[in-house]
Amino acid sequence: SNPSLLILPGDGIGPEVMAEVRRIIDWFGTRRGIVFDVSEDLVGGAAYDVHGTPLHDDTMTKAQEVDAVLLGAVGGPKYDVLDFSVKPERGLLRLRKEMDLYANLRPAQCFDALADFSSLKKDVVAGLDIMIVRELTSGVYFGEPRGIFTEGNERVGINTQRYTESEIARVARSAFELARRRGNKVCSMEKANVMESGILWREVVQKVRDEEYPDVDLSHMYADAGAMQLTRWPKQFDVIVTDNLFGDLLSDLAAMLTGSLGMLPSASLGAPMANGRPKALYEPVHGSAPDIAGQGKANPIACILSFAMALRYSFDLGAEADRLEAAVQKVLAEGVRTADLMQAEGGSPVSTTEMGDAILGALEAS
Ligand code: NAI
Ligand code: MG
Repeated sequence: SNPSLLILPGDGIGPEVMAEVRRIIDWFGTRRGIVFDVSEDLVGGAAYDVHGTPLHDDTMTKAQEVDAVLLGAVGGPKYDVLDFSVKPERGLLRLRKEMDLYANLRPAQCFDALADFSSLKKDVVAGLDIMIVRELTSGVYFGEPRGIFTEGNERVGINTQRYTESEIARVARSAFELARRRGNKVCSMEKANVMESGILWREVVQKVRDEEYPDVDLSHMYADAGAMQLTRWPKQFDVIVTDNLFGDLLSDLAAMLTGSLGMLPSASLGAPMANGRPKALYEPVHGSAPDIAGQGKANPIACILSFAMALRYSFDLGAEADRLEAAVQKVLAEGVRTADLMQAEGGSPVSTTEMGDAILGALEAS
């Protein structure tokens, strides 16, 4: 049967950027013979408007059954007044939690034509292509005890960094699997010099590599040194695997090595399914951008590159992902720009649809 994909456009610019992805999916069907069983459903405010909940149970069930989920964005000012339990982002959080997506993937990829956007020197970022794998469901954000307690005559705020061997091993496996589809190199980051969880992290990642992925090149680095190395010479890395807290910081840092929010894809992966591929949710890093929604100004590239990640990591279509990324590279090199990619006044930005047209044109020529 065909690979299956659930599309959840969501709110604001979500449906606008997703419309361009739909055209690209159709292109792969008609021109490359790669046909997906695509179903579409509501999430976020759009789901709340119809069902009174940001994620209907039927949608949740569908998400558990498909090979991959592709989400646009959720939220908007209209929903700010809602009770926390039905806020649009609760729909996204429910998806992540019930699918148990413990590995968050944030690539930092520099398209040469945009190297000027980086705050770093052009030769430091040109051609950059690294992937940060952040553990997403454990660590200091969830560990117990946590809370603000009274101790003597003052209060104390407590969080606990806690990782089990199995939590470390499964995210390490995600990183090694990815590395095999990329440059075959993983750098694990922790602070084994000062943290017990860091000592265990290093030991378990090394053991998983030695026993299950001897072909992958593994190194270890303290996370603070890693932050320095990421800004000094990021091209030394391929895949970086790290915990929830360090991953939060390092992935934001790495993302900004390369520029605009409108360009950044992401994925969250869970346990392998019966077909051996991981449960997966792909989504742009950006939100629903209410300030530009409905105006045809949104950059669809973050969402398009999220689909490229799905091609590579959920459908084993690395060559097709390369084809799509090369098409994006080509239109950027030709100077096609949505408004968010224009540095100053002057020049004429293209619309969301025109960017889609240009990328389809480049695919056609590929
Ligand atoms: P945002 O990412 O929606 O927008 C931040 C700025 O970047 C805005 O000026 C926006 O116009 C611009 N921008 C974002 N994506 C763009 C694109 N594709 N093309 C061109 N410009 C783009 O973040 P903000 O404003 O903090 O949040 C807006 C809403 O989105 C809120 O309701 C928030 O809760 C929600 N949100 C949802 C996320 C998700 O669905 N994963 C993530 C972040 C925020
Ligand atoms: Mg962050």
